[in-house]
Amino acid sequence: MIYITGDTHGEAARFFEPKLPCGSWTKNDKLIVAGDFGCIFGLGARDEEKLDLLAGCPYEILFLDGNHECFPKIYSYPEENWCGGRVHRIRENIRHLMRGQVYEIDGTRIFTMGGGYSIDQMYRIPGRSWWAEEMPTEAEYEEGLRNLEKAGKSVDVIISHAAPERTMRYFRETGYFSHLFMQEALLWGYLEKVAQETEHRHYYFGHLHLDRELPDKRTALYYAVYCLDNGQRVL
Ligand SMILES: [Fe+2]
Repeated sequence: MIYITGDTHGEAARFFEPKLPCGSWTKNDKLIVAGDFGCIFGLGARDEEKLDLLAGCPYEILFLDGNHECFPKIYSYPEENWCGGRVHRIRENIRHLMRGQVYEIDGTRIFTMGGGYSIDQMYRIPGRSWWAEEMPTEAEYEEGLRNLEKAGKSVDVIISHAAPERTMRYFRETGYFSHLFMQEALLWGYLEKVAQETEHRHYYFGHLHLDRELPDKRTALYYAVYCLDNGQRVL
């Protein structure tokens, strides 16, 4: 089975959460993190220790990048083709799902687009706690559209770190946000276009640090865990 959760921010304990049904998970099960994995943060041995700990999980960990990641380090891992898309191989059971890819994982077709804008970047140090690669590039956007075209503009699930535009407007209109940080608007627009033009049964995203089931078959993820195969919330 494939499961999905939101930003883990380097908290290794999230992967060993006793309430997760992962006691019964095997190497055939997968947990996807919808960005802000945070376990590769340019901390050298501390990151390696954490990744070695996660390598002991009985299941596979697949993560999109968010905005709080050490991108040069993630990009230094070997790139491989896996399930029809490009990944960085971090450990035997840990893979980075790159931007603009379409994977077919255990029969489920998944489009991925990581990246996002850090609203707290003025408090962060470039190259130490903030990296310029946080927002997708034009080439990554284009690669995503090309891969969706090849997939016949049809997948089972769309996963991004940031939210699509209509969802951001919904949050603004319903008062959840008093204002929106427009630095990310291009990404919202791209994601909305993908959602509108691609047949899909569900859309999951992280980044906003809330768990909420939303209109248009969309779900915001933080600590919640859903099963992608049947859409049921398991935590
Ligand atoms: Fe986050």
